[in-house]
Amino acid sequence: MGNILVTGGAGFIGSHTCVELLAGGHDIIVVDNLCNSKEASIGRIEKISGKSVKFYKADICCYETMTKIFDENNVDAVVHFAGLKAVGESVRLPLEYYTNNIYGTLILLRVMKEHGCKRIVFSSSATVYGMNNKAPYTEDMPTSATNPYGYTKVMIEQILRDVCTADEEFSVVALRYFNPIGAHKSGLIGEDPNGIPNNLVPYIAQVAIGRLEQLSVYGDDYDTPDGTGVRDYIHVVDLAAGHVCAIDYAMKHTGFEAVNLGTGKGSSVLEVADAYEKACGKAIPRRIAPRRAGDIATCYADASKAKRLFGWEALSDINEMCADSWNFTKMNPEGIK
Ligand code: NAD
Ligand code: WQD
Repeated sequence: MGNILVTGGAGFIGSHTCVELLAGGHDIIVVDNLCNSKEASIGRIEKISGKSVKFYKADICCYETMTKIFDENNVDAVVHFAGLKAVGESVRLPLEYYTNNIYGTLILLRVMKEHGCKRIVFSSSATVYGMNNKAPYTEDMPTSATNPYGYTKVMIEQILRDVCTADEEFSVVALRYFNPIGAHKSGLIGEDPNGIPNNLVPYIAQVAIGRLEQLSVYGDDYDTPDGTGVRDYIHVVDLAAGHVCAIDYAMKHTGFEAVNLGTGKGSSVLEVADAYEKACGKAIPRRIAPRRAGDIATCYADASKAKRLFGWEALSDINEMCADSWNFTKMNPEGIK
């Protein structure tokens, strides 16, 4: 069992992964600047796990602070979530995205190198499959991007590949997440976006709780069974468990691996809205709106590599994901406080 540094560990996927790492017997150190999360998440991770978490409120872009964190802790491996993630915002603020995501990763890698830490699990994204591949996506397909956020993921994967080429003792697992939703069964941690949500399920959750009026369905004329966009939604607890497998893998292997974390199954916007209605017992009012720029019709994973490498597969279906999202939303109507 190792001492794992979790960057961005107060965030949505990070907090769930902290819980699973602790349950797996690892010790964790969290570094997060709380630019998109609350310190209260750390207390909630501790409450769920019954274990204490060493927390640094710090920016990964700060070399001095990151050096201090590595000096004070014997870090065996890093799980690197810290980053900005809103696609539309990245188009408006490219320099902020490239600085935070790429410069932050470079600082992290430099400090890791200086401390002889050579294992990292990185939060990549299905967004690296771009617009030109056809689902199901396999890890050997060419990567590309259509916006600065996506480019940060493509570029960081390349940087990590190059680090592995230069140092054969280095170990990288780049996990390509599909669409993470849901929440921990306790209802203590979940997705708590600032402002009006961009993503489908957080938006539906706010319609269900009465903070937003109705869902806009972005296009019903796609080449899909019901005309609305199809995505591979994955329960965040399944996703978190995938990180524990990836860390275990990185402890035993060297080199670079990109691995999809998805269910391998797609659901349409209307199917998700219907599942959420069932979960919350209320109608989700909806209207058909124009397509959203940059969206593709269909995106789902070939999830066989994660099964082959890690013995991991997603367990929850869309009904359970919506039920857990609703439980968290009901318990935290104004988010995590
Ligand atoms: P999140 O915003 O909830 O978590 C990211 C965390 O990183 C936040 O707590 C934020 O405060 C922190 N952070 C950001 N910049 C930082 C910095 N410079 N220094 C320290 N902390 C910093 O997002 P999430 O949904 O949990 O996503 C985690 C990672 O997974 C991100 O890298 C994201 O790009 C990636 N990802 C997310 C999705 C998704 O749909 N949620 C899909 C694919 C990939
Ligand atoms: C899902 C479907 C929309 C909102 C994004 C990023 C991707 C990754 C995950 C980080 C689409 C439709 C949505 C709404 C709708 N993030 N929709 N009404 O676009 O698949 O992926 O988050 O890496 O990079 O691009 O997720 O949840 O925004 O959309 O009809 O109000 O729901 O058109 O078909 P997406 P999403």
